[in-house]
Amino acid sequence: MIDAENNCWNKTRKKAKRKILELREGILIRNATKDDLEKILEIEKASFKHIDAFPPTLFKKYLRELEEGFFVVLEKPNSIVGYAILGEEDGKGYLLSIAIHPKKRNQGFATSLLKFLEFKCYEKGLTKMTLEVRVNNKKAIAIYKNLGFTEVGKKKGFYEDGVDAWVMEKRLPIWMGLPPQSSII
Ligand SMILES: CC(C)(COP(=O)(O)OP(=O)(O)OC[C@H]1O[C@@H](n2cnc3c(N)ncnc32)[C@H](O)[C@@H]1OP(=O)(O)O)[C@@H](O)C(=O)NCCC(=O)NCCS
Repeated sequence: MIDAENNCWNKTRKKAKRKILELREGILIRNATKDDLEKILEIEKASFKHIDAFPPTLFKKYLRELEEGFFVVLEKPNSIVGYAILGEEDGKGYLLSIAIHPKKRNQGFATSLLKFLEFKCYEKGLTKMTLEVRVNNKKAIAIYKNLGFTEVGKKKGFYEDGVDAWVMEKRLPIWMGLPPQSSII
């Protein structure tokens, strides 16, 4: 899905002082900014039950604190269709959240965002990426498995409504200071 020519963060271009990865004509992954917050909150509300949705304060904290490329949005001309947030925990990349606007799903956008974040982990020398997912979120689990994540544990009653979470992980190649030979994006 992603053009091999445009497959890494190194092939970025400056536009409005933001680093941008162009996936295909007019579709970009770029750093989130505070101007995106309203749209991100709209996607959040449409994507998660109230108890799972991140509050605006948390998004603002991530906007302030996360390094470049760890809080990104996927943008089609003039509209943000989704976002993804990556943290770092115990030397692993940690997927904090991902959501795509309900009207823009099943077009590979979440997969693109995840591959991008995998690349950020790889570039940073993090050799694993990890996440938690509701055990009944079949679609998200299928996407993670397609990308090579496997269940490595279960957190009982992890969510506020008592539902368990699968802990899923993916081992990443070791950063050699060069763009990957066989692209992970
Ligand atoms: C999960 C989510 C981010 C996926 O976004 P998306 O852009 O639609 O995902 P993609 O288009 O990259 O991938 C869709 C894949 O899921 C598959 N799929 C769709 N519905 C499915 C289902 N009910 N069960 C299993 N697989 C399903 C599609 O066949 C497709 O696979 P393919 O690429 O092999 O054809 C989106 O549905 C969302 O925002 N959900 C609400 C928030 C959420 O659950 N976030 C994850 C929290 S851990």
